[in-house]
Amino acid sequence: MTPSDVKATLSFSDGSPSMDLPIFKGTVGPDVIDIRKLYGQTGKFTYDPGFLSTASCNSTITYIDGDKGELLYRGYPIEQLATNCDFLETCYLLLNGELPNGTQKDDFVKRVTNHTMVNEQMQFFLRGFRRDAHPMAVLTGLVGALSAFYHDSTDINNPEHRQVAAIRLIAKMPTLVAMAYKYAVGQPFVYPKNNLSYSENFMHMMFATPCEEYKVNDVLVRAMDRIFILHADHEQNASTSTVRLCGSSGTNPFAAIAAGVACLWGPAHGGANEAALTMLEEIQRNGGIEKIGEFISQVKDKNSGVKLMGFGHRVYKNYDPRAKLMRETCHEVLNELGLQNDPLFKLAMALEKIALEDEYFVSRKLYPNVDFYSGIVQRAIGIPVSLFTAIFALARTVGWIAQLNEMIGDPEYKIGRPRQLFVGAEKRDIKPIAER
Ligand code: CMC
Repeated sequence: MTPSDVKATLSFSDGSPSMDLPIFKGTVGPDVIDIRKLYGQTGKFTYDPGFLSTASCNSTITYIDGDKGELLYRGYPIEQLATNCDFLETCYLLLNGELPNGTQKDDFVKRVTNHTMVNEQMQFFLRGFRRDAHPMAVLTGLVGALSAFYHDSTDINNPEHRQVAAIRLIAKMPTLVAMAYKYAVGQPFVYPKNNLSYSENFMHMMFATPCEEYKVNDVLVRAMDRIFILHADHEQNASTSTVRLCGSSGTNPFAAIAAGVACLWGPAHGGANEAALTMLEEIQRNGGIEKIGEFISQVKDKNSGVKLMGFGHRVYKNYDPRAKLMRETCHEVLNELGLQNDPLFKLAMALEKIALEDEYFVSRKLYPNVDFYSGIVQRAIGIPVSLFTAIFALARTVGWIAQLNEMIGDPEYKIGRPRQLFVGAEKRDIKPIAER
């Protein structure tokens, strides 16, 4: 962190002494006011529920410029990564800070590939779930359970353990997601095939059966790989902050990532792709394109509680750059599968057009986010809606680990312990039950 020459001065209208606060500059993005000594010197906390103005850490991994609609992993624009690199190269970049050269890439791919199988006992654990369990419920359990299977990589303070846990998590997530899917549809689990690429292997485990090989379609594999790249990291979002906070207690990496999976499930976060597609299906059922006007009126009515899912973002106040890339992929996949006239896609296009021109959305800077399109792509590939968020979790795992490892390696790292503004009852005495 680079200190700025400028200082912030905090003054109080009741005449209490003012306080100078240091300011730090990042490489890009807003400066931060360092308030670490504020409580010690003034006895006051800051108040920022939802972290609207709070940088919870310093980080070198991902940068988002919400006004420009820019996303950089380790300095590289998402557009360049999505068109020039594959997912495992992106993983290497997020974990190590630099893109791999040929040898480094081969070595990394080999390491990940060697860890794709899960302990056979995991399937008995999985079999304890109901077949109709939500895949995110299953995944939260399975990822947490990894710590019961891989004891040699659970010490978060040991850099070697952290490295092995990272590789294991990246390698095993596709296997676990595919297992959760196979279990739900009542098909036998398909073991990983190490001669396939990461994304091919995932699709193979999803769609192959013992009686039929899965024929890999390059366009669909590229689309899957792009979904993974676009979701790989997104700086200090809710699930990543959850992973950091959870990991800050010194818990093992599998437990911390399981906490991230649980957080991601919510419809305001990773659950939005599922919610966006469910919304499109519901509009379609209720009259389709003809009824968009009615739906938009509901969205604008604050009392309706209806939101246009897949629109809006806490940070992007411009078009989400991931949405642009996903929109492109959406066209490619639908063309490849001959689904250009897919009614849900047409509906999504019509909704997008209206929302981009409507004053309600324009004035609030609400643009489509990545989830608006990723659902349509996944559905076209044959992935059931209930699995969308699990696929997001698979892709985000590398980001969570990179962020967790960055935190543990930071000499300033401390257990996360927010404070509060207490507005409840003051100290009082219990009355005997007859007098209450
Ligand atoms: N539909 C209708 N109105 C909206 C929407 C929406 N999707 N999103 C925000 N607004 C309105 C909101 O009602 C508020 O209006 P007003 O100023 O009149 O009160 C204004 O826009 C600002 O919204 P906010 O709720 O203060 O914004 P936020 O930063 O707290 O919330 C959000 C961001 C993503 C939770 C929200 O936009 C949302 O719920 N979107 C739909 C869910 C979604 O698509 N989430 C995926 C995010 S991208 C994937 C990921 O990174 O996890």
